[in-house]
Formats: sequence, C-alpha cells, structure tokens
Amino acid sequence: MEILKTVEQLRQWSRAQRCHSGEGIALVPTMGALHAGHASLIRAAAEARPGRAAVSIFVNPTQFGPNEDFAKYPRTFKADCALAERQGATAIFAPSVEEMYPAGAATFVDVEGLSDRLDGKSRPGHFRGVATVVAKLLNAAEPDLAFFGQKDAAQVAVLRRMVNDLRLGAKIVVCPIVREHDGLALSSRNTYLSSEERRQALVLSRAIRRVEELVAGGERDSESLINAAYAVFAEEPAVRVDYIELVDWSTLLPVMSATPGTLFAVAAWVGKTRLIDNAIIA
Ligand code: PAF
Repeated sequence: MEILKTVEQLRQWSRAQRCHSGEGIALVPTMGALHAGHASLIRAAAEARPGRAAVSIFVNPTQFGPNEDFAKYPRTFKADCALAERQGATAIFAPSVEEMYPAGAATFVDVEGLSDRLDGKSRPGHFRGVATVVAKLLNAAEPDLAFFGQKDAAQVAVLRRMVNDLRLGAKIVVCPIVREHDGLALSSRNTYLSSEERRQALVLSRAIRRVEELVAGGERDSESLINAAYAVFAEEPAVRVDYIELVDWSTLLPVMSATPGTLFAVAAWVGKTRLIDNAIIA
C-alpha cells in the first residue's frame, strides 16, 4: 500500500491508476481513528474500484470550532493504515496541515444556507471547513466515486450540494450507519465516553428506534414524532439535547410530516461529548 503525503503525489497516483486501468478511482475521505463504520466505507470503495481505492486521513483543523476537540481528536495512524489495507485500500493520503492549507490560505468553500442547519447551527463554521477540505481532496484525487457515512447525514447533504454546484464530477456514495450490538452508532468520539456515559449514550439510538417504530405504525406528523423522541431523551436527564429534527434531506429544512427519504436526525451532549444519530424514513 502506498502512503502519499503531498497533493501532487495523490494527483499523480490517481492519474496513473486511471491511465493503467482506463477506469476511475474511489476515495474515502476520513479523519482517521478508523472504526468498523469506516471499514464498511473502505470495503465498499474497494469492491467498487478494486485495486484503486484510496483513503485520506487528515484531521482537518478548519472544521473544528475554537473550543472543540481538534487537539485531542484521536490519532491512530498505524492502526488506521492496517485497517485500510485489510479492507482493500491501495493508497493512503496523509498530508500535513501545511500541505492542505499553504501559508496564507484564504480560499474557502461556503455552501450557503445548508451550512447553517442541523450541526451547522450549533457548530458555526464546521461545514465551511468540511466543504473546503473535501473540495480540495476531490480536486486533487479526481475520484469518480467518493464514499461517506450516513451517520453524518447533514454533511452528506452539504457535500452533495457542493459537488453538484461546483460540477466536481464525483458521485457521492452513502453507506449505512454501522452500530454496536446495543445500537450505539459507531463514532471516533465514542472513545471519549466513560462507561456511565456510554450507557447514557444509548438514548440516541433508542429515540431513533422509537421514531422508526411510530412511522412503521403509521404516524407521520412531525411534531408528534419529535415529541416522542424528546420523551425518550427525558429518560436520561443527564443527556442534553442539541437538536431533534425532521427535515428534507436535500435542503435540511424542517418538514411537517415524514415521507420516504425524510431525514430524522438527533444530536446530544453526553457529558462533554457531542454525539449524533439519524434515520432515513423508509
Ligand atoms: O466525516 C469526516 O470524517 C470528515 O468530516 C471529512 C469528510 C473526512 C472531512 O474532514
């Protein structure tokens, strides 16, 4: 497996792969601290583009707010490379901050409107950082497929909009949420949880399940579904809800009733850790 450090190396690697195979490459953008959720993305990428799947590992400073966890975000590079290789990746792109943001960098990608909704509302500037770094990665790697997890559903909406607006040419592939045996959605931030917080965190997936059950039983009204989710959260008073929303997945604007494809999303603070979870209404 090749370890690429510079944008130019990534560009050359991608061009060589496409030239030799006559086909496109797949890219899986990550911030490392890879878990089984990332593994499923990498596996899907390697199955779609055998021998031509690259994983980027870059803890992107511009998507963290001043009081967020950039400095303490888990960094597990060696284990990440081993996991990526086991899943069939053939290249890792691991640039430095200076490589991605040259001195004096003043160019950012703003997806207006969408970037201020859901996680963007409580994390101002977050999606600007995400869109900027993903635009740089797609521009350098020129993949025809880029893989993202449904767990970051608002991120997916922002990136779909950006790829379409900038005519970047990559198709965004979204892979399902991977969960622990007890329902907790996998996240690199789960490692921050104490054992008591780990137990409390189950309230997120319980709320999601409750809403899915209600929808399966015929409930469609947005207010009723959101209230039902709040009732589940009330079982864990130590967990602080950030948002519970039922939105159109492409605009991230609230909807009055649940229809197939609607996004039901929650975010909550468990101790000092902010977790998210969601379901797409069937
Ligand atoms: O989902 C993530 O891990 C990050 O937001 C991404 C897409 C790799 C951009 O830094």
